[in-house]
Amino acid sequence: MPDSVEHAAYLTEQDDATADEFAELIDGLNQPLKTISPKYFYDERGSQLFERITELPEYYLTRTELSIMDRHIGEMASLIGPTASLIEFGSGSSQKIRILLAHLVDLAAYVPVDISREHLVASADALAADYPDIEVLPVAADFTQPFELPGPAVMPVRNIVYFPGSTIGNFSPEAALDLLEVMHHEAGTGGGLLIGIDLRKDRGTLERAYNDAGGVTAEFNLNVLTHLNRAFGADFDRRAFRHLAEYNDRDGRIEMYLVSEKDQTVSIGNAKVAIAAGERILTEHSHKYDLQDFGAMTARVGFRPVRHWTDADEMFAVCFFERD
Ligand code: SAH
Ligand code: AVI
Repeated sequence: MPDSVEHAAYLTEQDDATADEFAELIDGLNQPLKTISPKYFYDERGSQLFERITELPEYYLTRTELSIMDRHIGEMASLIGPTASLIEFGSGSSQKIRILLAHLVDLAAYVPVDISREHLVASADALAADYPDIEVLPVAADFTQPFELPGPAVMPVRNIVYFPGSTIGNFSPEAALDLLEVMHHEAGTGGGLLIGIDLRKDRGTLERAYNDAGGVTAEFNLNVLTHLNRAFGADFDRRAFRHLAEYNDRDGRIEMYLVSEKDQTVSIGNAKVAIAAGERILTEHSHKYDLQDFGAMTARVGFRPVRHWTDADEMFAVCFFERD
């Protein structure tokens, strides 16, 4: 069994595209609606704040998905079959995968892919310690950019891409389609996709989930500025922004913004960005799906629906797709 140090040596890291990321960040802040990619939520503190969000009474998503997994895990495991390689996109704390690991037979490997490196290493180490017979091969990468997957020692019967949490909802419909195409490719011939999606529901439930009374989501949102200050040498003043999350019913999505409290100019490296009082910076969309629309989207990249499971109130769904 690998200890922590050996295990970190397994880590596959993709090259930093810092110049490209800087250009992308500045381009986003120069749009008529200023935009920061939600991937910048996830530095170490952001990942910890997300873990706290998953435990909030208002944030129904995680506990609902876990309850669906618990209830239907036998059927999920038998549809996946023996000796699969599991590739998890946006693995975070690798909590949900534990339900699968406890039920799958002869898993070939578990490949968690996440942009939040320290959190990924800690979670992969903890998992490897708890499951010494499973080969854990973490990949620290931005999964929207091309990245290579490590080859497991045991030849898998098939690849299963696991994408829980409704993280797919954080991508625009076009970007989600691109991501589904990547997952279709990574699943390979005869592979599958097990994916969690948050379903459409009433505005009140949704807006409470993204405006918790304890202010954890607000802190998660504002932390993006601290991350940018460190990663890009920016000088955002967090106190000059406030959190805003509202449901856009027409587009079926929560929109999260940072609203400027005053006229201000921010330096990011050698660039300067002027922000007006009351101006919004878009930090996240969180799309809520309807099962039929989501099925149509996955069909476009070549996935075939096999089975889906929901909770009694139809708040959330876990769907299994296969490809030829
Ligand atoms: N799967 C977990 C965590 C969801 S939070 C769950 O269901 O609870 C979203 C995760 O995706 C975070 O761990 C974040 O670091 C990761 N993530 C977000 N954007 C990413 C990107 N572009 N590339 C890789 N990982 C990303
Ligand atoms: C990771 N993702 C699915 C979360 C969501 O619900 O869209 C991120 C999040 N944003 C605010 N709270 C949680």
